[in-house]
Amino acid sequence: MKISIIGAGNVGSLSAMRIASDGLGDVFLIDVVKGLAHGKALDLEDARPLLKYNYNINGSDDIGNVKDSDIIVITAGLARKPGMSREELLVKNAQILKSICLGIKELAKKAIVVVVTNPLDIMTYYALKITGFKPSKVFGMGISLDTARFVNLIAQELNLPVTDIEAMVIGAHGENMLPLPGFSKVKGVSLDEFISDDKVKLLVNRTISRGAEIVANLGTGSAYFAPSAAIACIVKTMVKDEKRTIGLCSYLSGQYGIKDACIGVPCRLGKNGIEQVIELDISQEEKAKLEKSAMLVASATAQLIA
Ligand code: LAC
Repeated sequence: MKISIIGAGNVGSLSAMRIASDGLGDVFLIDVVKGLAHGKALDLEDARPLLKYNYNINGSDDIGNVKDSDIIVITAGLARKPGMSREELLVKNAQILKSICLGIKELAKKAIVVVVTNPLDIMTYYALKITGFKPSKVFGMGISLDTARFVNLIAQELNLPVTDIEAMVIGAHGENMLPLPGFSKVKGVSLDEFISDDKVKLLVNRTISRGAEIVANLGTGSAYFAPSAAIACIVKTMVKDEKRTIGLCSYLSGQYGIKDACIGVPCRLGKNGIEQVIELDISQEEKAKLEKSAMLVASATAQLIA
């Protein structure tokens, strides 16, 4: 199994380490900055005797190394600065993504592509259009991270283990995301049995702004521990063909009443990528919000392609 990670910043290199030490495949770390990926790969290799793993990890500045990859994770792009929205990154990161996707299209026709670059939903749709691959094989990481954040905040509030909490977030990986308290449970019991509506609203808002809260605290760069954990979880689900349901940014062809847009929804994931988009019985109000954010994604992507 050849797993390429494009972008050797914090998210890319930490994902490389998690994927390699989980023994999921041979990892190729690629970054346009000369020496960066190679240096990080050498460092990750040196950790092998200490961690007692024999993983294979390679680093290069040549996109040609994506050749014949089974899975490609794209983390390349600029990160948000404090006060900057994910959408402001759009034009710059679209240029970066385009050249990467053209390389993938030529050299790794069978790859499954996981997009992590922000603005996530727009970049996922753009990657799908540029590669021309099947929608089941090009999707984004986004809301699996947001779901983890929502679970963490609920667990903290209730002082319970995270494993007791099941939560659901759909929609855009951005200000329009939709944490769904109605689909969130504590060991099968509705969240509203444990937390007041006002408190739930606070947790929902904190989930939506969690990425920005981290950016504001860090000063430079954005989150990477939880994003890389989400990436490793997605890659493992495919490599082991677990067929688990994970929140992903997926192309919709009529599900949720949305056609020809990419947005975050629960998806069954296996060795061939997305096997099924799961349609939740959401309220009319939630549906309207989801449609609205999908429209915003579609029109922003149309502008990029025009
Ligand atoms: C975040 C960035 C990675 O949500 O989008 O932290």
